Amino acid sequence: MPVLAIDAGTTGVTALVVGEDGGVLARGYREFAQLFPRPGWVEHEPDDIWTATVAACREALAGTDAQPTCIGITDQRETAVVWDRRTLRAPRPAIVWQDRRTAGICDRLRAEGHEDRVATLTGLRLDPYFTGTKFSWLAAEEPRIWEGVRDGSLALGTVDSYVIARLTGGARHVTDPSNASRTLLYDLEKGGWSDELCELFDVPRDALPELVPNSGVVGTTDPDSFLGLELPIAGIAGDQQAAMFGQACYAPGDTKCTYGTGSFVLTNTGSTPVRSDAGLLTTVAWDLGDGLVYALEGSIFVTGAAVQWLRDGLGLIDSAAETEGLARTVPDSGDVVFVPALTGLGAPHWDPHARGAVLGITRGTTRAHLVRATLEAIAFQVRDVVDVMVSEAGLSVPELSADGGASANGLLMQLQADELGVPVRRPVVAETTALGAAFLAGLGTGVWGSTDELAATWTLDARWEPTPGRRDDGRHDRWRDALRRAGGWTA
Ligand code: G3P
Repeated sequence: MPVLAIDAGTTGVTALVVGEDGGVLARGYREFAQLFPRPGWVEHEPDDIWTATVAACREALAGTDAQPTCIGITDQRETAVVWDRRTLRAPRPAIVWQDRRTAGICDRLRAEGHEDRVATLTGLRLDPYFTGTKFSWLAAEEPRIWEGVRDGSLALGTVDSYVIARLTGGARHVTDPSNASRTLLYDLEKGGWSDELCELFDVPRDALPELVPNSGVVGTTDPDSFLGLELPIAGIAGDQQAAMFGQACYAPGDTKCTYGTGSFVLTNTGSTPVRSDAGLLTTVAWDLGDGLVYALEGSIFVTGAAVQWLRDGLGLIDSAAETEGLARTVPDSGDVVFVPALTGLGAPHWDPHARGAVLGITRGTTRAHLVRATLEAIAFQVRDVVDVMVSEAGLSVPELSADGGASANGLLMQLQADELGVPVRRPVVAETTALGAAFLAGLGTGVWGSTDELAATWTLDARWEPTPGRRDDGRHDRWRDALRRAGGWTA
């Protein structure tokens, strides 16, 4: 009984057909356009996301004779989408999680003294990253659209809700707690939309989706809208929580890092929401119908995106895959440090105004050094959030499960193990985001009977042991110094 998983990510949509053994039977992928209408703004056309979704699914389904029996959905989180309930068309582009346009709104709310209350209710912070201030911006700047939101003709949601609305021909307007917990509108401990927060961010509660558990049937695809298929939609989760589920991080303390556009470290904290004063987020991992499970998260905005910038912005490399070989041609970064604060800094620093910096360049610096410094920057940033998890929250992270595109880079994985001082391991299926969505859907329809059964499908592909002495060899001190110096640009 195979499962179709849709991962509607930031730069493209992946579709996987997953077999009962947890193996990938077929895949499809489509990129869609990234829109940068002004400095710091990032938008997507919802229609593009939908077209890419259908094309990726068509490709995956054509790659196998297996007929999926249900669908799981996972998505880039926090991105704000508005669409017409009747036509399902969007009156404006989606405002993407990376978009920094609401930094001023966040500053104002902070100055008005709302930050502590918002953090207490949501486990998040006042940062443009999250959905709430994106909706506030629409309410203030695009009143005609907001009129439609208020009169009920337009619906609000994150990408999961939008894709499900399209899949069901408009029959369902739902989301799950993991996506909801990233909006600034969700009460983390009560487990529902908060009237107080809806009022603060100027969001009519009726415009928000209905909350449903992460696993279990919540609707059926409309054959006229979706490839002639009538399939139960039985799993939903934000991509980082889905990756955690796909990595079988089911026990408190299990920790994963997904290396994508950004990198996101999540550790399972069980039924207890662990709070952080040092820059981590408290978030919902999932609700399988028997109560909320929480995670502590370190959200790093730019890691794979820094490699993309080397390729597209500087023309220094032709492909991301080249970075490993090139970086291995030099023994180290030649003292070059790259702080890739290209869309500000997320965890644990949270500076939406920060910008990138390259320090330590000399006459002898080559592109290999800069590429190596980029890989080191990814490892340093992940270390910074894991160090806070250990020092502040007192969690023990005895090993890190890695996944996502850049986990294919063996040098990066070695650098990561060296920086953390603990082993890093990668499963055979490194597309754990889509896999997690498949697991949630399959668990909800009886393809799998328990998380134990799912955990048994996890198969080790490779493991990297830390090199003795490397964690404290001074490179990380230089990184911290560079971070401080780069911060000067924000003044
Ligand atoms: O919080 C943002 C995250 O969900 C985006 O992940 O993999 O689409 O870059 P990704």
